[in-house]
Amino acid sequence: MSPHSYKSLNNVPKRLIMEKMVTFSRLFSLLMASTLAYLLYVVIILHRSTPDKLFQQKQILFHISNQSITSVKNTKHFTVGAYREHRVKGHVVRIISIFRRDSVQPLYCLFCCGTHCTNGLKAEVQMHSDHFGFPFVTTDVLCPYPANCNPLYVALSTQVSVLAQNHTFLSIQNLVNRKEVDFPFNFTVCVSNLFGDYNNVLQFTQTLEMYKLLGVQRVVIYNTSSGPDLKRLLQSYAQEGFVEVVQWPIDQHMDPSRGWLFSEHGGDIHYYGQLTTLNDCIYRHMYQSRYILLNDIDEIIVPYQHETLPPMMEALQSQHPKAEVFLIENHIFPKTQFDPSRRFNLPRWRNVPGINIMEHIYKEEPDYKNYHPYKIIVRPRGVEQTSVHEVLRSFGETVQVPPKVCHIIHVRVPLRKGLTKENLLEDKRVWDYKGELVSNVDKALERAGLLTR
Ligand SMILES: *[C@@H]1O[C@H](CO)[C@@H](O)[C@H](O)[C@H]1NC(C)=O
Ligand SMILES: *[C@@H]1O[C@H](CO)[C@@H](O)[C@H](O)[C@H]1NC(C)=O
Ligand SMILES: *[C@@H]1O[C@H](CO)[C@@H](O)[C@H](O)[C@H]1NC(C)=O
Ligand SMILES: *[C@@H]1O[C@H](CO)[C@@H](O)[C@H](O)[C@H]1NC(C)=O
Repeated sequence: MSPHSYKSLNNVPKRLIMEKMVTFSRLFSLLMASTLAYLLYVVIILHRSTPDKLFQQKQILFHISNQSITSVKNTKHFTVGAYREHRVKGHVVRIISIFRRDSVQPLYCLFCCGTHCTNGLKAEVQMHSDHFGFPFVTTDVLCPYPANCNPLYVALSTQVSVLAQNHTFLSIQNLVNRKEVDFPFNFTVCVSNLFGDYNNVLQFTQTLEMYKLLGVQRVVIYNTSSGPDLKRLLQSYAQEGFVEVVQWPIDQHMDPSRGWLFSEHGGDIHYYGQLTTLNDCIYRHMYQSRYILLNDIDEIIVPYQHETLPPMMEALQSQHPKAEVFLIENHIFPKTQFDPSRRFNLPRWRNVPGINIMEHIYKEEPDYKNYHPYKIIVRPRGVEQTSVHEVLRSFGETVQVPPKVCHIIHVRVPLRKGLTKENLLEDKRVWDYKGELVSNVDKALERAGLLTR
């Protein structure tokens, strides 16, 4: 027997013991890991979904909101989302809020850090310039960080010195200044909020499937209410992960307007709080998505010289390296004019409620003499405050994208009355995607149980 084999023979039991020890220590680490994971889970659950219970951290107790609209104690105002601000000097938290314009008083920011909550620090209240005469307006509240503290929660108060347990805190989001390469999404669509009994299922399914084909990874929608079939569709897309539904019960806090102008439509806030949801959506996805598209539920931002959005944005961005805001023209396709061949008037879609955009291939020439509204693609990190058709404050340049490069397909009631087919322009861009579009729409409707063949 060579010394070598002897050595290896002699080693057998030792190796078995070693293996047993390794197995034991593996089991032990597994046990420790699962215990830790469970503790972490409990902590996250406490943080995220039981806000109305008291959250206990050492000696302090305080409420953490799990709602998207939280009233500020002893005021007429509401907070929506708190976001760490990485784009200005110093440490600041921005709280996207809804303020009653006639009732603004001095406010203080309360922070809760590791083991203590601070006294209030003076808040800077910045009401947005767009309010259209309504009593409530989207407002940014800027809170300077307290000294020696890495806060996770913030609340607004009318007093400097208060007990934390008397207030409802918001979790501070965007704590990490993530780099673009680590973003989960390149293109996110923030759809203006959903309200009333909107049940335009076929158009919304076609819109979502067009967006998938154009390279969008996520669609976010703020939901106040909807029709029964659209609700099923949204639940199905949310389950699949393409759509994120943020509940937006604004009607439980005020009397939201269905219109855009107070003097004409009355109510407490412009379009169910649309401006607040767009701003909140931008901040919520600022470190998740390279680009954000801001448009309504019945609009699709479509490239005309590129097949999809990524190469189009690459081209635009290389022509305008400092651009953060891209204005896209809205083109209206009247739902009253049909493609005469009716080739997409598919029998199986006839019982699906809503407009079939593939049948409406005639568009109005925009009346450039009048105000012509844009919708927007932004790099969210370049935006401070947004409105619907323009950005109110940004850190970079704004570019008007030529309509031959990209414009919106917006199938709706005609804007310019009395136009006949001869006065309209033919535009069959959607048909370029027909192969995949039709079968993907079928599959989506089937998944939601909305198609019976
Ligand atoms: C918030 O918490 C309450 C009570 O813990 C719960 O009933 C409710 O469903 C939660 N809401 C959301 C949006 O998570
Ligand atoms: C906390 O709230 C209670 C009940 O609303 C009130 O009686 C008390 O004065 C408050 N305390 C402080 C310090 O704000
Ligand atoms: C986003 O775009 C980059 C660069 O084109 C690409 O490498 C990455 O895979 C894309 N991410 C997603 C989620 O599509
Ligand atoms: C939208 O909100 C309404 C009213 O709260 C609710 O009944 C409905 O389930 C919500 N829809 C989705 C898709 O979450």
